[in-house]
Amino acid sequence: MKEKLATLSFSDGSPSVDFPVLGGTIGPEVIDVRSLYGKTGKFTYDPGFMSTASCRSNITYIDGDQGILLYRGFPIEQLAEKCDFLEVAYLILNGELPNKEQKLEFDGIVTRHSMVHEQLSRFYSGFRRDAHPMAVMCGVVGALSAFYHDSINIYDERSRDISAFRLIAKLPTITAMTYKYNMGQPFMYPKNKLSYTDNFLYMMFGTPCEEYVPNPVISRAIDRILILHADHEQNASTSTVRLAGSTGANPFACISAGIASLWGPAHGGANEAVLKMLDEIGDIKNIPAFIKRVKEKDGHAMLMGFGHRVYKNYDPRAKLIQKTCHEVLEELDMKDNKLIKLAMELERIALSDDYFIKRKLYPNVDFYSGIVYKALGIPVSMYTAIFALARTVGWIAQWKELIADPEQKIGRPRQLFTGATPRDFVPIGKRK
Ligand code: ACO
Repeated sequence: MKEKLATLSFSDGSPSVDFPVLGGTIGPEVIDVRSLYGKTGKFTYDPGFMSTASCRSNITYIDGDQGILLYRGFPIEQLAEKCDFLEVAYLILNGELPNKEQKLEFDGIVTRHSMVHEQLSRFYSGFRRDAHPMAVMCGVVGALSAFYHDSINIYDERSRDISAFRLIAKLPTITAMTYKYNMGQPFMYPKNKLSYTDNFLYMMFGTPCEEYVPNPVISRAIDRILILHADHEQNASTSTVRLAGSTGANPFACISAGIASLWGPAHGGANEAVLKMLDEIGDIKNIPAFIKRVKEKDGHAMLMGFGHRVYKNYDPRAKLIQKTCHEVLEELDMKDNKLIKLAMELERIALSDDYFIKRKLYPNVDFYSGIVYKALGIPVSMYTAIFALARTVGWIAQWKELIADPEQKIGRPRQLFTGATPRDFVPIGKRK
């Protein structure tokens, strides 16, 4: 088949240049501009990567206009309904759903890597009791590279797999330890007889004083939330992991960088920001005044949990979390919860307001997840840490894909320089 080309022409009479147009399996074609600088001495300018594909990937696909999310080709709705988190983790990592034996083996390996080095627990006491959990997570996850030297040879496939298992298995333990440290309660060792999610909830809410009894509705809800957060294509934190990974940094350092990037309120930190916003609004009667402030961009007011760079339609994950949220509130007998009523009314008003309609602003994954956590009594500052736990699967799969990609190079963008042109040094006594 004849190669498709895109031609770039210039208004100043410079010769036009051709670039190959590459097609994926679905989604928009991309113009391969790698030779642009060599051919023209010019760069592209794309702050925020509005029109730039940074890599080839076969993990996650999003159609933001249709509100479609696929992990390895499977619709998120089917995975959230029919799989458990580790099944989805296996899929994201390996490209196919596991058969029974593969699932058993994978669950077993993850389960047997869930303890952290005992010395790691002493890291926590270096943090203030009230340190933000994401600050603790960045530090402790980064510190893993100091404990697991034997798996940081990134050019060895077996080492990469071991690091992947370690990260996926230890993140629930580290996240729960972060919570326990904040609460001033003893750390709980993982229990191998429990499932991944039950074990996480046990390490969060169990204490040595009494038997922890898992609640299947709550476990399923959290498991589903983990599935919905597991990967999301080349978002800010994943791109951070890839950029760090492109330098050859070890996987623990890369995931720690991803956690730092996720922390921001425009990204994973939005679930925390939603709850703060709902608290600030306080009552349904205050919604119109809040929406007015948002529309007037008064003091940078935003409707947190709304809007997305890629989704210009309902985020499919938000629909699924909304359903999960109702199941949890029903189970906990909190149906008349003031917060959920406030959130639903806020959503209703926003979705019928011209400002949000015109800008295609819909609820995203974070709009409802915080309400589930709140109902479970999880402190607001922990929300993004739980997001990080889930997203570790996506980050590590994307990192592995990057390392195995023969086209990968160190990530090194260029710039449009707008600073001073060359000038001569002036001795301090002669400066104005
Ligand atoms: N509330 C009010 N106005 C908004 C919102 C919002 N949540 N989101 C976007 N807008 C407005 C912008 O002010 C802008 O208006 P303008 O055209 O009058 O200037 C317009 O919609 C387009 O917005 P951009 O900022 O250009 O969109 P972008 O794709 O860069 O930003 C983002 C996407 C960062 C997610 C943004 O919508 C936002 O900050 N939302 C709130 C935070 C949030 O919920 N983040 C979680 C995202 S999901 C995730 O990371 C897990």
